[in-house]
Formats: sequence, C-alpha cells, structure tokens
Amino acid sequence: MLPWIPVNEPILKQKELEYVTECISSGWISSAGHFIEDFEREWASYCGMKYGLAMSNGTVALQAAIGCLGLKPGDHVLIPSFTIISCALAVIYNGGIPVLIDCDPDTWCIDVKQLENKIEDIIKDGKLKAIMPVHIYGHPVDMDPILAISKKYGLIVIEDAAEAHGAEYLLGRNTEKPTWRRCGGMAHLSAFSFYANKLITTGEGGMVLTNDPFYAERLLSLRNLCFNKKRRFHHEELGYNFRMTNIQAAIGLAQVERIEEIVAKKRYIGQYYRERLKEIPCIKLPVEREWAKQVYWMYGIVLDENVNMNANEFAEILKKHNIETRPFFLGIHEQPVFHKMGLFTGEHLPVTERIARKGLYLPSGLTLNESQIDYVTEVIKKVLL
Ligand SMILES: Cc1ncc(COP(=O)(O)O)c(C=O)c1O
Repeated sequence: MLPWIPVNEPILKQKELEYVTECISSGWISSAGHFIEDFEREWASYCGMKYGLAMSNGTVALQAAIGCLGLKPGDHVLIPSFTIISCALAVIYNGGIPVLIDCDPDTWCIDVKQLENKIEDIIKDGKLKAIMPVHIYGHPVDMDPILAISKKYGLIVIEDAAEAHGAEYLLGRNTEKPTWRRCGGMAHLSAFSFYANKLITTGEGGMVLTNDPFYAERLLSLRNLCFNKKRRFHHEELGYNFRMTNIQAAIGLAQVERIEEIVAKKRYIGQYYRERLKEIPCIKLPVEREWAKQVYWMYGIVLDENVNMNANEFAEILKKHNIETRPFFLGIHEQPVFHKMGLFTGEHLPVTERIARKGLYLPSGLTLNESQIDYVTEVIKKVLL
C-alpha cells in the first residue's frame, strides 16, 4: 500500500518565496502594494479581460460581481443546482432569488437545453436579471447558447470560473470565425477562486474580471467599504472589506507566471487517469467536448446506478487504501439551510440528485505522480471489477 494520497497539495516554488520575501522586507503586507495591481493585470490579461479586481476569496468575488447588478429584492438569477453554495449565497446576499437548473449528465455543467424553457416560464414578471454559468471541475460550460440567450432576453452573464483556470472554449463554433477563449473571459463579469486547491492559489483569494469600466469602478468601491473618493470616511452606500493582501497577490503573481506548466500538468493527469480507467464499464469519467479544453481541476467519477454502493461507501473503501477523495456537491435544491428558508422545497432535479449520491473526485493535485495514479486506478479496478 502506498502512503496517504491527498486529494490535493499546493506546489509553492522559489518565485513565490522571493515575492513574499519582498513584501515582508519592504513592509508592504496590507492590501496596498504593487503585487495587487501586478496580479490583477496579469490574470485579467491572461483571461483576455480588461479589468481584474482582487478579492479576499472566491465566494465574495461572486457576491461583489452580483453586487454590480443592483438587484431589487426578489429579482431572479439563473444558476445551476450542481455547484457550491457560494453561487446561491451571492444572489441571496444581494437580495435576489436563485432559480435552479439541472446539470448535463456528461459535463456536469448547467444543462443549457433546459435554460430556455425555464426562462419562458419566468420571464413575464420582469424579475429575471442574470445567468451564472459555472465551469464545473474544469470543464467549460457551453457558452454560445448562454450568450445567445443573454442577448435575446437582455440578461447579464456572470461566469463562475473558480474551478477552470486556463480552461478554454471554442466560441462561435457554428460561425465562420470560431475562436478559442479562456474561461472567465467570455461574459459581462467573471469570478475566480484562488483557494489552496485551485490551479492558481493565493491560499485564500479571489478575483472578479470585467471589460466594463462601470463595473470595475463599482467593484473597487464595494471591495473597499464604499469609501467616498472626495470625502474620506463619508459613506453613501453599504460596502464590504473584500480586500486581498499584497502577500497573497505576490504568491498569485508567481503562479500566473507558470500557468502554462500548471495547466499542462493538470491535463496530463486527467488524460493519464482516463487511459487507466476507461475499461471499467460501471463508472462514468469526465468528458472533454470537441469545443472544450478542460483542465481537470478535480478528476471526478460517477458510479453507475447498478453499482450497489453510493459514493460515500466507495470513498470509505478507498480511504482504507490511503486514498483521499471528496464527494460531489449536494445540489443547491437539496440544501437543508434553504429548505428552512422556504426555498426550493419540492424541487427535483434528477441528474444533480443522482450524481450527488454517486459521484466523488479522486486525488488530482499537481504533486500527483504516475505511480500514485497507477495505484489509485488499480485499487478502483480491484473494488469494482
Ligand atoms: C465553483 C465555485 N465557485 C466558488 C467557489 C468559492 O471560492 P472560495 O472557496 O475561494 O470562497 C468555489 C470554491 O471552491 C467553487 O468551487
């Protein structure tokens, strides 16, 4: 048996140490300091966007992005149910109500085919304001239909790219000029997380990207307590302290400088897993659509219905072999906290419910080596075949 194989371990190198050392020796450790702007500029530019506003984590990055929309109480935002609770919180904390869509059984991202039907049902009352596609586990959402819907109904699109640093989407594949675009670079606003298990990490951290100077200005203000520019300590709006520190940004900048290497390693891990798991008939593996370059943020697998255990039971067996896993998200519509608030009771989204019970993700971090993947896949075969 191999020693414990964690789901993820961050890799921090010499450059991170150098940049952090500069913060400490110069004393620039708060949210002032040049690494913030350097990191914002480099990440926005990598994703093909004009403005980057660093935030203290991905959850508040989503909250600030939705904060730009000026929702009125009860306004609706479409989100997938199969995602982290942060997406729903961002809407609710801004006074809105999330409207949930089931996920695609293959990509596990929002099912774009169900979007239009849902919109037709709810558009009449004028409360629908935005759509939040979430690129799940590193696979891009099919953005063309989302952007078409956004134009047709005048909806703002906020991409949650927290799990998809460096992933790419072939925009306009049915047009004369299809172009590969990075996730987080296709919507009115996008949000990233830089938590320690993400492809780029600052420990805790996040960023909102936009091309719109109005949103950029608004994000700057929301992030910093809505300070009045002309009169210090005079506030006309409620803001937040969502600031990132120069030390975090220093770590982030060092990582952005080797993003290509990070993405290549993640894609290698994903492809290596696939080669070894593809002959097991009773599990579903991550896909990569022809219009997508996915980054396998986490390598998820879903047990078939005919496997007589759920993901938790399977995880317990893997744990006994020193293999750490994580369960898939529990859908937003099944979260007890929302039921207590009277939200989503009685809703059923069958794909989300099935994969929440039958899905888990395997060790997927950048430190993973081939012999560890060989071992993990051999154990899985022994248990399932
Ligand atoms: C899809 C998605 N959105 C948002 C977040 C929130 O990011 P954070 O943990 O930095 O608050 C996460 C966190 O993992 C996530 O997976």
